[in-house]
Amino acid sequence: MTTGQYFRNFLLRTDEKTLFKMDHYLDVYDGLMGPWMGKPVSFLEIGVYKGGSLRMWRDFFSPKASLTFLDIDPACKALEIPGTEVRIGDQTDVAFLQKTAAERGPFDIIVDDGGHKMDQQLTSFRTLWPQLRDGGLYIVEDVHTSYWPGFGGGFRAPGSFVEFAKDLIDRMHSWYTEDDAGFPLHPMARELGSIAFHDSLIVLKKQIKQPPISITSQNGKIGGSRKILEVRGRKSIF
Ligand SMILES: C[S@@+](CC[C@H](N)C(=O)[O-])C[C@H]1O[C@@H](n2cnc3c(N)ncnc32)[C@H](O)[C@@H]1O
Repeated sequence: MTTGQYFRNFLLRTDEKTLFKMDHYLDVYDGLMGPWMGKPVSFLEIGVYKGGSLRMWRDFFSPKASLTFLDIDPACKALEIPGTEVRIGDQTDVAFLQKTAAERGPFDIIVDDGGHKMDQQLTSFRTLWPQLRDGGLYIVEDVHTSYWPGFGGGFRAPGSFVEFAKDLIDRMHSWYTEDDAGFPLHPMARELGSIAFHDSLIVLKKQIKQPPISITSQNGKIGGSRKILEVRGRKSIF
């Protein structure tokens, strides 16, 4: 299902409440969000600012969707609109995030468009990833701050969100380790379906997985094996 360029077209439908996104995110969202259009999702966005994204997301999902928005600025509570709930708190406050998730989660989609500092993005991710449903999306906007020292980043800075996400690529592949001590099987291998790196935007898809299977099919007869996970000292894929 396509969004019919819902997100790009929304720019023409904004009201006095300013929407604040990078231009190309709209195309990413139009490419990504089709399967969720009109669905009664449980959605969480960190970062309200002037409130422009509340109506964008509300009108995109089903009227039955549960839409939660967080911001540290108490003034944002006044930007709540029907069909949304704004909660005031700090995205690094684990107890606040857990309470929000207990009362409003689990979530199908989480968007982190909050303060964009490394500790904020990492604490929110670590706390909220377990609150994401199987099949759900965790989206972190403005990850160019991973390259900005003022936000705790820098080029290949240890502890930046981009470096953390790059590391998750390895953890996702840790089924295939040949080094149990140095590169052990990581729990994210069972939970992370994909990571997409767009410019400034990272999309992590949660997918609760069984160990991967290689399949063969001949004359319509399908065979499966997990041998690839057991073979060590590989020199060839076959
Ligand atoms: C980029 S703006 C959000 C823009 C909005 N999502 C939109 O699409 O129009 C960032 C917001 O994050 C909020 N913020 C900053 N630090 C925060 C924190 N530690 N916890 C929660 N929100 C925070 C700011 O108050 C600001 O309103």
